[in-house]
Amino acid sequence: MLEKDIEQILFTKEEIENRCAELGKQISEDYKDKKPLIIGVLRGCVPFMERILENLDIYCTVDFIKVSSYEGTNSTGTLIIKQDITTSLVDKEIILVEDIVDTGLTIKKLIPLLYDRGAKDVKVCTLLHKTAREKYHNDLDYIGFFCEDHFVVGFGLDYNEYYRNLPYIGVLKKEIYNN
Ligand code: IMP
Repeated sequence: MLEKDIEQILFTKEEIENRCAELGKQISEDYKDKKPLIIGVLRGCVPFMERILENLDIYCTVDFIKVSSYEGTNSTGTLIIKQDITTSLVDKEIILVEDIVDTGLTIKKLIPLLYDRGAKDVKVCTLLHKTAREKYHNDLDYIGFFCEDHFVVGFGLDYNEYYRNLPYIGVLKKEIYNN
């Protein structure tokens, strides 16, 4: 049913899972002597966060933050915290888990906020990076895949809250969001 709205599949479930295993191995290696706090950026992070966590063989804790900087298919330019972290960030080594870095605004605004609350270090792990629309540069430490300038959905990514449950990442047909 959902598949009829998809123009093209960019990354299959198997490709995503394999990449998450690689990223998890890399993070486990980089943090083997640390106990990072993994913060998922809701809601899009959920399936990616799950795959990353199951591939981490280190002591780590988990929290979530929900922010909004996006309406429909255009960034609004402001970041609103809709649901906050409940863990103390003092002296924490943090890995932020995002579904997609597009303009870079969300991450650009989030990172200083975490440092203001006492974080010792903040790294970013994103499933996708859409470089063509980057307006705010961030150092991204772990990137699942680079993605062309398409509006993509699935594996956590939504259009007006739908399609998050697609098991793959695909390009949404333009007629869906032009209507
Ligand atoms: P940024 O702040 O512009 O980097 O955008 C980050 C947020 O925009 C992501 O967490 C997504 O929620 C949303 N976003 C950006 N591009 C897409 C897309 O192609 N599909 C779905 N959501 C997107």
